[in-house]
Amino acid sequence: MTWACKDVTFYDVSWRLSMETSKSQNQNFKVNSKVNGKPVHLKGVTLYKVFENVAQKYDIMNDAMSLGIHRLWKDMLLHAMHPQPGARLLDVAGGTGDISFRFLEYVRSQRERQQRRAVRFGQTLSLQDISNSYSTIETDGPRESTAVVCDINKEMLKVGKEKAESLGITAGLSWVVGDAEELPFDDDQFDIYTIAFGIRNVTHIDQALQEALRVLKPGGRFMCLEFSKVTNPLLARLYDAYSFQIIPVLGEVIAGDWKSYQYLVESIRKFPSQEEFKSMIEDAGFYCVQYYNFTGGVVALHSGFKL
Ligand SMILES: C[S@@+](CC[C@H](N)C(=O)[O-])C[C@H]1O[C@@H](n2cnc3c(N)ncnc32)[C@H](O)[C@@H]1O
Repeated sequence: MTWACKDVTFYDVSWRLSMETSKSQNQNFKVNSKVNGKPVHLKGVTLYKVFENVAQKYDIMNDAMSLGIHRLWKDMLLHAMHPQPGARLLDVAGGTGDISFRFLEYVRSQRERQQRRAVRFGQTLSLQDISNSYSTIETDGPRESTAVVCDINKEMLKVGKEKAESLGITAGLSWVVGDAEELPFDDDQFDIYTIAFGIRNVTHIDQALQEALRVLKPGGRFMCLEFSKVTNPLLARLYDAYSFQIIPVLGEVIAGDWKSYQYLVESIRKFPSQEEFKSMIEDAGFYCVQYYNFTGGVVALHSGFKL
């Protein structure tokens, strides 16, 4: 049987996205697919096609699949990050830019709050002091915050750029094609590295973690939002039923693409548990590694620091 997935065609009678996780001794998790029983790497070229196919419908599918809850998880990431004006963010596997948009909005409101506070403080000062404090805010205030959205997939970035323009978010934002395993940035550049719903797609997770460590400044923070292991058995059963029976159907109905969404569901199940992933982050050289479960572990936020 030959079946076509928009512009990509897969030839195989028993082509199926049956993933298997191989966990080598150095904790390097890989997710592979099988074709006629032989494992082949799904990541790389084929995965590129998955995201190329879903790019145009990615945002609408995110809302449909998560019933809008992905917005709350992303807001919670920003709340935990609490970035200050002047911070530099690298958002890897940034896709259509959701994390970077939230980051820039958050630092903008922080800056406004700080300026209002400075003005309130100025009410007890003389006119000359007030004038000085305004010029201090403008000239000596924190430098502009920047966010770099880095993704391996040009199509996802293109959709993100269009979204940014329609939302009027352009200042401090840049878009870079790049692989999480080999980032096109110098060492010690960023205050915060985020990767949201992206790391499970990376072939060599340990290599991506090394790259995160390299590009962060000393004191910089790594933050990863990813689907994880549901801790409550009842919720786990409901979640499994929903994921395997509803999500591929939504993928077919909304995006005309059953297989890509079946892949997404399978890849979630193969990702290491919260504790396993925490150990991998520590092994990469991060300190103070912690995680927080959201929605009973459907999603976990891992955080660590470069010292
Ligand atoms: C599920 S989307 C997440 C997008 C975005 N972070 C969000 O939260 O909406 C996963 C993204 O990972 C990207 N990706 C997959 N492998 C990658 C790699 N090795 N390096 C960089 N990006 C990658 C895909 O192109 C895709 O845009």
